[in-house]
Amino acid sequence: MKEKQLDLSRRPRRFRASRQIRSLLTETQLTISNLICPLFVQEKKGKEEIGSMPGIFRYSLENLLEVCSELREKGLNAVALFPYVPKEKKDDSGSLALDPEGLIPKAVSAIKKNIPELLVITDIALDPYTTHGHDGLWNEHLGDVDNDATVEILTKMAVMLGKMGADFVAPSDMMDGRVGQIRKALDSEGLTKTGILAYSAKYASAFYGPFREAVGSAKKRGYYLDKMTYQLNPSNRREACLEALLDEKEGADILMVKPAGPYLDIIYQIRQNTLLPVAAYQVSGEYSAIVAAGLNGWLDPKKAAIESLIAIKRAGADMILTYFAQSLAKDPSFNL
Ligand code: PBG
Repeated sequence: MKEKQLDLSRRPRRFRASRQIRSLLTETQLTISNLICPLFVQEKKGKEEIGSMPGIFRYSLENLLEVCSELREKGLNAVALFPYVPKEKKDDSGSLALDPEGLIPKAVSAIKKNIPELLVITDIALDPYTTHGHDGLWNEHLGDVDNDATVEILTKMAVMLGKMGADFVAPSDMMDGRVGQIRKALDSEGLTKTGILAYSAKYASAFYGPFREAVGSAKKRGYYLDKMTYQLNPSNRREACLEALLDEKEGADILMVKPAGPYLDIIYQIRQNTLLPVAAYQVSGEYSAIVAAGLNGWLDPKKAAIESLIAIKRAGADMILTYFAQSLAKDPSFNL
């Protein structure tokens, strides 16, 4: 032994001594094939950058098809679509959500016709379509969304989008019983191949702010809506697990946690309690926080993005919805 050498039985730094050993011992791999790209669609021609989400655009149908085929070429398997609905087309009951000639149904059928091998996920909720911005029907008398009446509409919406060719419908509304009703309705229409990606543990989060701008959600006195009567209380973990297991029982194919980064414990717990695939949604505010810090020169946004996604995967997510999907897919230095 050298003088001054500690007598250690184990020196874990040997695991980190070279790039090769670090690579050999890597436990969590991030790959494009497990990422899902959320995409915003607009009626207007061309594309428009979202102010609070630098690098993220709303696309016209034509642009959307170009972006989708490029993403597919780069190895991405799935996209999730969200509409931008101009104010004058919204109403109290969000009736545009059921219009088979609407933007999303048109986008789904165009993608499935032109790029059939790209999986298409459609959001099932009324918020982009309602004047008040809630995910369901607002009942003034109750001072709340009407759960059961909302489920009835969402079920119709899911069947309509299933018929258009959506591979997965993704109820993001957090109403009680919607997964079971949607499954039943899809099956009774013969849509047995349409899957349900359930937003099972969706928290009432301030991190949705930039998304609400992206889809043109209403603000009240400068603030976005409070959705605490249906989205989960950020303090609660067991309740999230309860929601996820209920969705599993009702027939969900994939269980999702949202947001992702601030809720890694929830992802981990749900992963431990189900055999179903678990998805996580790295939401708009998580994206914008990293990008804004990057634009200020306060951190390296690409490294921070990758680290944040690895953390989400390490917690147990099999797949991740992330606004970084597009730039990572196009980045030749990103794996593999
Ligand atoms: C609404 C919906 C929201 C998001 C996806 N679907 C916002 C909300 O619940 O208010 C947020 C996604 C994001 O912030 O990236 N049904």
